[in-house]
Amino acid sequence: MPDWLITGCSQLLTLRGSVPRRGRALRELGLVQDGALLVRGDRIVAVGRRRRVERLREARRAEKLDLGGRVVLPGFVDSHTHLIFPGSRADEYEQRIAGKTYEQIARSGGGIRATVGALRRASHKALSDRANLHLREFAAHGTTTLEAKSGYGLDWKNEVKILTILQQLHGEQPLDIVQTFMGAHVVPPEFRKRPNSFVELLARGWIPAVAMAGLAEFCDVFCDRGAFTLEQARRILAAGRACGLVPRIHAEQLSHLGAARLAIELQAASADHLDMIDRDDIRALSASNVVCTLLPGCSFHLGTARCAPARALIDAGAIVAIATDFNPGTSPTLSMSMILSLACAQLRMTPAEAISAATINPAYSLRWHGRVGSLEVGKYADFAAFDVADYREIPYYFGVNLCSWTMKRGAVIHSRNL
Ligand code: NIG
Ligand code: FE
Repeated sequence: MPDWLITGCSQLLTLRGSVPRRGRALRELGLVQDGALLVRGDRIVAVGRRRRVERLREARRAEKLDLGGRVVLPGFVDSHTHLIFPGSRADEYEQRIAGKTYEQIARSGGGIRATVGALRRASHKALSDRANLHLREFAAHGTTTLEAKSGYGLDWKNEVKILTILQQLHGEQPLDIVQTFMGAHVVPPEFRKRPNSFVELLARGWIPAVAMAGLAEFCDVFCDRGAFTLEQARRILAAGRACGLVPRIHAEQLSHLGAARLAIELQAASADHLDMIDRDDIRALSASNVVCTLLPGCSFHLGTARCAPARALIDAGAIVAIATDFNPGTSPTLSMSMILSLACAQLRMTPAEAISAATINPAYSLRWHGRVGSLEVGKYADFAAFDVADYREIPYYFGVNLCSWTMKRGAVIHSRNL
């Protein structure tokens, strides 16, 4: 692997500094005008003003790349995706446009259970080929690290199928994938009449087995109306924690069950969605180390008016992250820059806040902040270049991919118009 001297960064957003970012610190991007990076192997060995980096001895021998005045930032860290699924649910999309709600469709056998049926019929190879195409698109949109959940198998064989595909993908393609076991996505059809038996099967059987086999680092539960109750979520996440799987939780998306408080009680890494939280939740989350992962793609795609109170969370000092929630039911997008646009226009986050929430804070929520999320000496050479002159133009333009170049661990994984 050659050493690289990368220049021509009109704005280099290093995101150096405090981890995680709260309050005003979310606006600190560590911006360097006319910046440069020196990369050796998979790591950053120097970063700063071009004139200084260029003068370093190693810089002379390195392969030179001039990015021609683009904006460069750490590769996005997408900390909430459901990467492995077959097909689409465009039929449900059309039904919702005609007036049915997400929950009505789920109750009549569609929704997550429709994707579960299709996944059980899909082969390992078909799912893996599809995910590979998606991962290439993630890279082409500037994402270099992502979390991926199981949860469309919901029987032992198919949950393991998903986690095994993820593990293989992590070895075969360049992006880093962090795995979450989400056997508690919904109650599978075969347990419909006895949901608590399924909860016990998860807590005593599947979760210890997943942890023992090293198939996941995190455990997630969809705690909501139509999915799992607060008590069931507590049982599942506590069982995960006892085996070393750190809790994450789908909390307060469609209804308010107290899941955000549960995240704090269990010291979860992240509480995700949070559309329905109240003032007390905001206060409690802000005083905790739980990352509030907001997913504005869902309210956009579902056409719901209510979205998470990002402004109140940030102003109260919470650790806020944003993610795609890439999934076929509520957020079929893998574009983090689209999520930045939604975070700014709909959640009223500033462009700088949204960028911190898409890089360093999600890295913290995945416990990967020592390796990714900012451009600092010793971290992975993971970054993306955008065809703009001012970082605010990344969310400003929407529905268009302006990412023209992506590097992951020192290897160029996407290049266009360069
Ligand atoms: O994060 N809320 C639960 N899970 C997904 C939706 C999954 C689906 O509808 O297929 C979400 O929004
Ligand atoms: Fe989700």
